[in-house]
Order: sequence, then C-alpha cells, then structure tokens
Amino acid sequence: MLAIEADALRRTYTHRTGWLRPRRTETEAVRAVTFDVAPGELFGLLGPNGAGKTTTIKMLNTLLLPTSGTARVFGHDVARDPVAVRKRIGYVFGGDRGLYDRLSALDNLRYFAELYGVEARAQRRRITELLDLVGLAGRERERVEGYSRGMRQRLHIARGLLHRPDVLFLDEPSVGVDPVAARDLRRTVADLAAAGTTVLLTTHYMAEADELCDRVAVVTGGRIRALGTPESLKSRVGERAVLEIEAYGVGEDRLERIRRIPGVRGAAVEERGTAQALTVQTDRGAELHAPVLAALDGVRVGRVVSREPSLEDAYIAIVEDAERAEADGAGPEESHADGPGPGESHADGPGPGESHADGPGPERRGPARPDSAWPGPAPRGPEHPGTQEVPA
Ligand SMILES: Nc1ncnc2c1ncn2[C@@H]1O[C@H](COP(=O)(O)OP(=O)(O)O)[C@@H](O)[C@H]1O
Ligand SMILES: [Mg+2]
Repeated sequence: MLAIEADALRRTYTHRTGWLRPRRTETEAVRAVTFDVAPGELFGLLGPNGAGKTTTIKMLNTLLLPTSGTARVFGHDVARDPVAVRKRIGYVFGGDRGLYDRLSALDNLRYFAELYGVEARAQRRRITELLDLVGLAGRERERVEGYSRGMRQRLHIARGLLHRPDVLFLDEPSVGVDPVAARDLRRTVADLAAAGTTVLLTTHYMAEADELCDRVAVVTGGRIRALGTPESLKSRVGERAVLEIEAYGVGEDRLERIRRIPGVRGAAVEERGTAQALTVQTDRGAELHAPVLAALDGVRVGRVVSREPSLEDAYIAIVEDAERAEADGAGPEESHADGPGPGESHADGPGPGESHADGPGPERRGPARPDSAWPGPAPRGPEHPGTQEVPA
C-alpha cells in the first residue's frame, strides 16, 4: 500500500480584499496535484514561495479540506477519515511556534506526549529514544528559550514523532537554521527515513533535496512541473553547462541582456550577503565567458567558475520554463503581487476575513500558546500505535 496518494488535489482560498468596497478574490493555491509516495520513501516538494507546498501538506495532514480531488494516507481518505489519518502522521512546520520556551525540552516532550495520548508507561522510554535520535540527549533539562534555532527544530521533530507516526511531514525544516545545524538536521531526517518512516519534506534548498530525497516534485503556481529522482531532473539540463559569477549589483536589466545572448539558456541571481551569485546556464560547448562578462560591463565582478549542472540548475530551468509557459498561455493569472508576501507570513495576513475559516491550522493566532490546537493523533485507544508498546 502506498504511504501517500494525492490525486488531482486542488485548493482555492477565497478572501476579501478592499475595505470600503470589499471584493471576493480567489487564489488557486493548488491546482490538480497528483503524486504518490511509497512507504519509507523520502519525498521532497520543491518550489518557490507561494508555490502551494504548505497548502498541499495541510491537505494531506487534514488541516485543510481539499476544494476537490482526493488524498489518502496509508489508504485512509483525508477528507472522509481524518481521525485514522492523524493516527498515522506527524508534522513539523518551520518557524518558532509550537514549543513552550520556559520549559525544558524534557517537559515539552512530556507535555506533548500526554497531549498525544502516549501511554504513561511508555513515555519515558520514547522520550529518551527521541532525544537520542535528534541529538539532544544531555541538553534535555535546559530551557528551550536558550536553544538555538537548529536545536529547536530538532526538538520539533522529536515532538512530531512522539506517537510513532508512519509518515512525517516536514515543512521547510531548515529555514533560518545555520549551515552546521542544518547538516545535523539533515542527518536526523536521513536517520528517520532509514528507520522506515516515510518523510514528505518541503524545502527551497536544492542541495538539501539533492542529498536527502529519493524523489522530488518541483511545484510552481500550484502545479507539479517535474517529478523524479534528483538524478533524472538533473539529466534534463545535462546538455548544459553553468557559469557561476560572483557579482555586485546585477539588476533585472542586466539579466535580460544576458538572457538574450545566443547560447544562453537562462540566468538567475541570488543574493548572498553583500555579494550576488549570478548563474548563467549555457549550451554545453558554447564559450560564453566573454559575451557574458561583456554584458556585465560596469558591474563589479568577483570569481568566475564554470561547472556541471546541479539540482539547483535543473530547478531553475524548470521554474523558468513554467513561468514562460504561464506567461505565454493560459490568459490572465491572478496576481499575488499585493499578496501577503513571502512564506508563511499570511499568518499576520488578511485579518479576520474568511480565509482562516478552515479551522485549526497552525496559522491561527492565539495567545502565547503552542499550536496545540492540533488535535494530536487520536485519543488513547486499543488501535493506537503508542499503546502497543511493552514497557521496560
Ligand atoms: N490562508 C490563506 N488565505 C489566502 N491565501 C492563502 C492562504 N494560505 C496561502 N495562501 C496563498 O496560496 C498560495 C500558496 O501558498 P502556500 O501553500 O503557503 O505556498 P508555499 O508553501 O509553497 O510557499 C499563495 O499564493 C498564498 O498567498
Ligand atoms: Mg510554505
């Protein structure tokens, strides 16, 4: 049986904009997304902000109802049988909420174990196991307020695993985590998958996806644009080469100029502190150093390297193709230009409109309380996996 089956999943958000003359606007956040995840697989959803990754995860973990389409987790329909689904899943959303800062990690885990119905006799052993798994053993008596971002994130993962879910959803686990901590986090996730847990991860760090994921789906504008192993996605840009240029102050006009050079297949720029990393994808064999540098005339340029395409390059190519296709066809798209901005920031978003009507999503803002609105995996019951444990 498949761990996750998503079949033509759609989700449209309706919200009101305008104050004097409110209008209803619709955002098609997820548009007919179909994919499967096998048991024990580590599957990645990749895509830019606003692509629909979080919305997809929230439909799979029963926090949001699909507008149409179906999804199943180990055969249980998310809309018809959410209780059965919740027993099998855990989730971790990126961000800082969801833990009690003034308690120790140990007390946080005890609290959530209680909340999730982990049997009292099994709690201690389970918590010890998890502290070990996430590399926090020895630090569990410290208050969480002193924890680094990476330690918090690993504690979140431990929390998400208390009830031994078969599927763990990790939404942008490494956002804001420093590189060393992110490496530890990746090791934790890899260990988890190696131990048989199915993991659905969203990220926009390509190197992370490349290292961790068995398969990835690239999502933009609510649609899957490519799906396969990282290797198979890279082979899409196999006939290309990449020029990477350290630069300072490259704007959209320069990028356009570079894109018009014959033999250039794409150009993108990423801010890296004070510098920029400019990546230019070219046809393999085309010698484009000179024309590209000429197009950058007047811009301060640092190191220039040419290299083989990476998953990130494949991703950029896929996203650019999708954007081009969208711009060419399909008529007017709704604009998100005035939207709530990057990432999850709609938490502070459109006010008391109906957009939060979908219930106890973690975006619900409450008093300084972790997102324990999550009902947890099922109350105690004979079929609850936690209760099958034989205490030591
Ligand atoms: N609660 C909401 N109300 C209205 N629009 C939303 C809400 N949540 C997300 N959206 C919109 O849906 C689209 C997809 O968002 P999301 O699933 O959060 O993308 P991602 O996780 O890939 O960044 C975006 O255009 C976003 O602005
Ligand atoms: Mg998101």
